[in-house]
Amino acid sequence: MRSRDPAGAPSRGAAVPSASGHWARKDLLGLRELSAEEITFILDTADAFKQVGTREIKKVPALRGKTLVNFFVEPSTRTRTSFELAAFRLSADVVNISATSSSLQKGETLKDTAQNLQALHADILVLRHSSAGAAQFLAERLHASIINAGDGAHEHPTQALLDLYTIREKRGAIAGLHVVIVGDILFSRVARSNIFGLLKLGARVTLVGPSTLVPREFEKLGVTVSHSLDEVLPTADVLNLLRIQHERQRKKYFPGLGEYIRLFGLTRTRAKLLRPDCVIMHPGPINRGVEIESEVADGPQSVILDQVTNGLAVRMAVLYLCGGISG
Ligand code: CP
Repeated sequence: MRSRDPAGAPSRGAAVPSASGHWARKDLLGLRELSAEEITFILDTADAFKQVGTREIKKVPALRGKTLVNFFVEPSTRTRTSFELAAFRLSADVVNISATSSSLQKGETLKDTAQNLQALHADILVLRHSSAGAAQFLAERLHASIINAGDGAHEHPTQALLDLYTIREKRGAIAGLHVVIVGDILFSRVARSNIFGLLKLGARVTLVGPSTLVPREFEKLGVTVSHSLDEVLPTADVLNLLRIQHERQRKKYFPGLGEYIRLFGLTRTRAKLLRPDCVIMHPGPINRGVEIESEVADGPQSVILDQVTNGLAVRMAVLYLCGGISG
């Protein structure tokens, strides 16, 4: 196991924040395979990097000389931008590639594309892809670090890590909290990664939504399933609302948006059922007026933009830890 104690890494110097512990993975593929200690280590490392963001000079030399390729085969605003900014702050060189600008369009396979990027000395490949398992497929074939930025409906580990970070920041701890996740759980990689992380860190999780999108089978993971948002809201410490992912649904899972909003939308009226200290989260992009009413999204209990800000520190931590193992 390689030590990843930044304080002990001479090439990273005093400008790099310190988080004690060890990290031995070149890839971040999901939270299912991480231990509670590894998750906490990433969050603690992110804490240190968040401090860097408050300094006059927000850049550290931690990944100087490393090359990161942001390879996004699906659209993204938050994840792609924050990985790019995180890499800049760590002094890495960054290249961005999208599906439309790559030779995937000409029939090149994902493996060939990735191997060509590695041949150009890419050290870290951040991959968003519509197929579950795409990141793992590359991780098993490349010596570059592979960071999963969302693979189909499978996992979105850095989103869950920034959600965990935000919960810990706002609520002081994660163990013992009741976290309610609402919406399209069936197709949500965010929900899956959150469930793994939250349970490992000792939270209680309830999933809420229509029975077609939140089937009882999810209880096998160790969560509670409910189809009544109004019943669950008064007991929530954290409420995480998810978008309906029309792009992954091949049939209708509920009668219409009006019906969905009536039963599962966080309207101003329904938000009054929440405890005053309950934090409202959303991974974005928000569909205002569907899963959340605008005034609630922009209201005092919402931490949605804090999540985005924390994503930068969390992604710096992930790149720093995995990027030091690649090669
Ligand atoms: N939450 C999230 O993954 O947002 P983007 O699709 O904009 O990256």
